[in-house]
Amino acid sequence: MDLDLRGKIALVAGGNKGFGEACAHRLAAEGAKLLLTARNEADLERVAAAVRVAHGTDVATFPQDLLETDGGDKAVAATLSEYGRLDVMVSSVGASGGGIFWEIPDQVWMDSFALKFMANLRMMRAAVHPMREQKSGRMVVIVGQLGVQPHPRILPSATANAALLSAVKGLADEVAGDGVIVNAVNPGPSRTERWNRLMENVARDTGQTVDEVEAGFTKDIPMGRFGEPDEIARHVCFLASEAAGYMTGTSLNVEGGWIKAPG
Ligand SMILES: NC(=O)c1ccc[n+]([C@@H]2O[C@H](COP(=O)([O-])OP(=O)(O)OC[C@H]3O[C@@H](n4cnc5c(N)ncnc54)[C@H](OP(=O)(O)O)[C@@H]3O)[C@@H](O)[C@H]2O)c1
Repeated sequence: MDLDLRGKIALVAGGNKGFGEACAHRLAAEGAKLLLTARNEADLERVAAAVRVAHGTDVATFPQDLLETDGGDKAVAATLSEYGRLDVMVSSVGASGGGIFWEIPDQVWMDSFALKFMANLRMMRAAVHPMREQKSGRMVVIVGQLGVQPHPRILPSATANAALLSAVKGLADEVAGDGVIVNAVNPGPSRTERWNRLMENVARDTGQTVDEVEAGFTKDIPMGRFGEPDEIARHVCFLASEAAGYMTGTSLNVEGGWIKAPG
């Protein structure tokens, strides 16, 4: 299927690592021009250079901390200044803590909402203005399967994800008449560097091997394995394209069947 993203302008928040990096490659492979934003400048430049070499497309970078209230506005302004319009906004920002419910301090909950919920929300809030003016645009927010099926030991993440899915649906309804489409992708555990680091840390803390820790997760996944970042990026590209032109306010679960309810 031709996703027809040639020449589209895509802003990828969190574009220097993990799913965001995979999305940068996949969107560029489909012909989009990119602006990547996140905090770490060296990682942004590394990904931008790799994408240019692999796909021969324009890639700009804009270092920005999305904990800043106007962080999303600045990233969108940089995209408009570079390319003059914004067709696709992908937001893949965050990381959240976990633990036993009654032992998790306020700060962990607040950090989770400050980053996972607010940073991605800021990107949506900033992107909505040019997209409404253009009467077209696609937003895809990478949220997570925990927002649909909470895990008792990862509730700061699960609750921030659930809030974000609610914002995706509400905004989608608000702007559906303006030609702006807003959706989410809910990955299950996937082999990004962050996830691999998490597995190593759990193994160190519990005295297990990494294989044993991973087996504890994969036993709950009917497909018996973790996802690959590109498997998530392909769904992001689909939602960013005309192929998904009659879908809005929804989320695609890409998690090997982990969620225990019909989708
Ligand atoms: N990997 C999984 O298994 C999995 C499963 C479900 C959901 N998710 C969700 O998917 C999203 C991406 O996860 P990932 O595994 O790809 O993680 P990752 O590789 O750590 O990517 C996170 C991205 O967010 C950026 N970021 C972090 N703090 C930021 C800040 N204050 N301002 C701006 N950018 C910031 C990071 O770049 P800088 O550090 O340079 O800023 C990085 O680009 C997260 O929301 C995560 O919760 C992941």
